Amino acid sequence: MVSRIIKIILVAIGAVACISGGVLYAMFPKIIKAKIEEQLILANGTTTYENWKNIPIPMYVRFYIFNVTNPSDFMNNNAKPIVEEVGPYTFKINRKKEVIGRNEERDTVQYNEVNTYIFQPEISAGTQDEMVYVVNAPLQGIAKIATKNIPPLIRPFFMPLLSSLLIHYKEYVIVKRKIRQLLFDGYEVRLLKDLNKSASRFVKIPPLLPNNTFGLFYGKNATSGGTFTVFTGKSNSSRFTLIDTWNNKRFLPYWSSKYCNMINGTDGGQFPPHTTKEEILYVFSTDLCRSLNFEYEKEVNIKGIKTNRFTIPAQFYAAPVANPDNQCFCSNNQSCLNGGVIELTTCKRGAPVVASAPHFYQASKQYLQNVIGLKPDKTLHQTFLDVEPMTGLVLNARKRIQLNIDVKRTPELESLQSINDVLIPLAWLSEVSQFSLPASIIIIFKQS
Ligand SMILES: *[C@@H]1O[C@H](CO)[C@@H](O)[C@H](O)[C@H]1NC(C)=O
Ligand SMILES: *[C@@H]1O[C@H](CO)[C@@H](O)[C@H](O)[C@H]1NC(C)=O
Ligand SMILES: *[C@@H]1O[C@H](CO)[C@@H](O)[C@H](O)[C@H]1NC(C)=O
Ligand SMILES: *[C@@H]1O[C@H](CO)[C@@H](O)[C@H](O)[C@H]1NC(C)=O
Ligand SMILES: *[C@@H]1O[C@H](CO)[C@@H](O)[C@H](O)[C@H]1NC(C)=O
Ligand SMILES: *[C@@H]1O[C@H](CO)[C@@H](O)[C@H](O)[C@H]1NC(C)=O
Ligand SMILES: *[C@@H]1O[C@H](CO)[C@@H](O)[C@H](O)[C@H]1NC(C)=O
Ligand SMILES: *[C@@H]1O[C@H](CO)[C@@H](O)[C@H](O)[C@H]1NC(C)=O
Repeated sequence: MVSRIIKIILVAIGAVACISGGVLYAMFPKIIKAKIEEQLILANGTTTYENWKNIPIPMYVRFYIFNVTNPSDFMNNNAKPIVEEVGPYTFKINRKKEVIGRNEERDTVQYNEVNTYIFQPEISAGTQDEMVYVVNAPLQGIAKIATKNIPPLIRPFFMPLLSSLLIHYKEYVIVKRKIRQLLFDGYEVRLLKDLNKSASRFVKIPPLLPNNTFGLFYGKNATSGGTFTVFTGKSNSSRFTLIDTWNNKRFLPYWSSKYCNMINGTDGGQFPPHTTKEEILYVFSTDLCRSLNFEYEKEVNIKGIKTNRFTIPAQFYAAPVANPDNQCFCSNNQSCLNGGVIELTTCKRGAPVVASAPHFYQASKQYLQNVIGLKPDKTLHQTFLDVEPMTGLVLNARKRIQLNIDVKRTPELESLQSINDVLIPLAWLSEVSQFSLPASIIIIFKQS
């Protein structure tokens, strides 16, 4: 059985052509170890390299949107927001790495990763033209920046102007939008243009949104998510696919200390070979603007292949009081958020975006209690990676992130003066990659 499994893995990475006879595997584990290492190199002409550039494992992203069902009660009567999850709206991801350079001395390869998203109506709950009532993210961004950046002398003139512009453009706390506007198409926030025109004499308005357009994945289709440099594994297999730099930097620019700015681990698609259950696996996430750590949870069998499931420990999300390592992820020492959520303001152009696990899974109860309609569930909402230990390949993964907007009462702005402070979920997404054995491999599996 063991030899069979190893054979499948080797077939999957293209190594089987180099070895003949099934007995060999069981008898010479050292040879196998060397063989695996020999194969796991990002070098021209290897199967590993081709599979790494164009990942053969199908990948999807499913979006779920939180439809607010009591907008007027929430906005006018101090009621808690009631949300109803709608979705999934599913897109196939075609992920391509475009190699742009190599550094033989450092043993690295540099690439841009381009994702193309194709809508899949047959595995979606509805069309992208459906309407939902959602929390108005641009409004909170504008309010936050105005509250923080406008000098006291200018406030008496500026805030009433902003307040009337918000009413004029119907920028309320909850707005009605199409699914497609919230995801890739985006919608123009016309207020921003006007605001710039009328306010630029007093104050410099930072560009809050690209093209003054808001959409969770606006500008992300068929474009590069940054330039990565990773180790090829040629001179040291323990570095296979570990990230060396991102956008030519070894540290992130977002956080207040070197520790929080570390770019650790891989992109989560694979790890160096021979990972053990005792190891902490690091993944750098461009969505969360930070490195994540994963710990072993249990063994999971995927079509006869034994894998180790790694998940994000609760400690990772803990508030700075419980986990001082997280202090540097808090942008304002006076008002750090509670456990289970990650403030993304510094990496989202100052917008009050807060990430968490879907439905505030593993988060402080306070967030869950302030919104009606959420039901955290480990199976549905946890993030995990199933890693084949010998090769480090990730055979099955779910990356699940919820984006919330930190809604704040702002007495100077009419649209925001009669609400309570609350973290309102806008949407969550699940990125799915699921290994399925190609037909040719299944035939070999059956023969051995
Ligand atoms: C790898 O292949 C590419 C294009 O096929 C070529 O430009 C490059 O020089 C090759 N690199 C090495 C190290 O052989
Ligand atoms: C969102 O809620 C509104 C009313 O509460 C409803 O009309 C609309 O159909 C819902 N949207 C979806 C996609 O279910
Ligand atoms: C992404 O771009 C491709 C073409 O490059 C297009 O076919 C596809 O529909 C676009 N996806 C979305 C979600 O707009
Ligand atoms: C505001 O207008 C100036 C020029 O009038 C322009 O350079 C700047 O990009 C604009 N900012 C925004 C956020 O549109
Ligand atoms: C902004 O608009 C320009 C012109 O329409 C377009 O080329 C560019 O891609 C847009 N930016 C983003 C982030 O989509
Ligand atoms: C190989 O890389 C690992 C991980 O970075 C490192 O700990 C180890 O010292 C390296 N081995 C050699 C021989 O350089
Ligand atoms: C980065 O990795 C190092 C070990 O290589 C670890 O000590 C550190 O905690 C990690 N940093 C983050 C932010 O995960
Ligand atoms: C926040 O507190 C930490 C430790 O308590 C300190 O090291 C850091 O400099 C403080 N940051 C700010 C911006 O005050």
